[in-house]
Amino acid sequence: MGDVLACLRGWHPALAAAELSALLPNAELASTPAVRWLRVSRSTHEERRAALAVASGLQCFLDEGRVVSVSETDEEAWFASAIAYVEAHPVEGSFAVRGWSQGGKISGWSLSRLSRRLGGALHERGYTVDLEHPERVLALIGDGQAQHLAWGWMEGDGQAAFSNGERRAGERPFFKPVSLDPMLARLAVNVATGPVDAGPVVDPMTGTGGFLIEAALSNRPSLGIDLNSEMAHGAEANLVWACDGPVDHARVVRGDATRLADLLPEAWHGAVAGFVLDPPYGRNSHGNMESLSLLEACLRSARGVAAPTAGFVLILPVHPIQPHPETAVPLNTEFSLLHGDWEGVRTLIEATGWTLQSAHVERVHRSLSRLILHARCAPQD
Ligand SMILES: C[S@@+](CC[C@H](N)C(=O)[O-])C[C@H]1O[C@@H](n2cnc3c(N)ncnc32)[C@H](O)[C@@H]1O
Repeated sequence: MGDVLACLRGWHPALAAAELSALLPNAELASTPAVRWLRVSRSTHEERRAALAVASGLQCFLDEGRVVSVSETDEEAWFASAIAYVEAHPVEGSFAVRGWSQGGKISGWSLSRLSRRLGGALHERGYTVDLEHPERVLALIGDGQAQHLAWGWMEGDGQAAFSNGERRAGERPFFKPVSLDPMLARLAVNVATGPVDAGPVVDPMTGTGGFLIEAALSNRPSLGIDLNSEMAHGAEANLVWACDGPVDHARVVRGDATRLADLLPEAWHGAVAGFVLDPPYGRNSHGNMESLSLLEACLRSARGVAAPTAGFVLILPVHPIQPHPETAVPLNTEFSLLHGDWEGVRTLIEATGWTLQSAHVERVHRSLSRLILHARCAPQD
């Protein structure tokens, strides 16, 4: 159970860190000088492999990965440390060194040259180079924002399983402008629910099925619900399309998000591990409830079927915060929601038996952001 260095994707490191923490609930995460790298202790190889298989914001883990500031080293000193690392962590099989930059380049350091130099030195020490299909990859990452280098043997092949490009929302058979981006939808499912074996996921207002598809592709038992039959049929078509055919573990029903106990299988009562919520905005055009009342009734209904450790992720449109926050935003911030008031949302979350854990803001465009709220079941008396 040695330490590993988790390397996060550049898109939204704070959200990616929240996802990692949800997927590895028993691990301890510690920050490093670079926001995209976290030191992870107390996790097993199997737990990390399971996290890598479903994560949206996780790039790879480096086995006891090293981190150094470029202002505190030079190429010769770095090279000696890299060789010392490999000698302390011998591996079997063929290898390749792969270098890449994130958050901008580090001036004066060429990662491709360093990778070639390190690869050559290992080759001389008897390691077999295989640039096409290496059994192990020695990663060398330069973080331009933090001006730090990290290196270490990657776990697995180092390629995060999640690839947005394969299934953009606009390519699905049923598309509406409300469709969520798969990368955010996947992350929300993971933050809300935790590890894949935690239990079922419910997307009570599924629309075109953005969350549901990601839950299904992660092999999570999942149910999408929508009051509107066009949406329910469209989400079903999208689900079948994304999964290359019908799957047993995920389905869509037409129904009311405020009556979840009537819609869920008996075995799911008290066992749902995660809810993912992207409610309609403003006046609800598909039901007859005003949106805050709908949210309140839905959260109450969700609490009634939730597992004791369940979570939810709720996404709400919000006016941008200046400057754009790259870390979690304190919960006492006065968010300026596009619809409804923040105090009202906060109050109803607590009144329905949930406790807010964190808030993050994601930029959509200059005049629109998304508030991403994570809550957990509040203990019952
Ligand atoms: C913002 S959209 C969800 C978009 C979705 N995340 C996606 O990726 O397409 C909200 C959905 O809530 C549905 N809805 C509204 N009231 C509902 C209710 N009482 N029960 C279930 N669904 C409802 C609407 O039909 C709409 O499809």
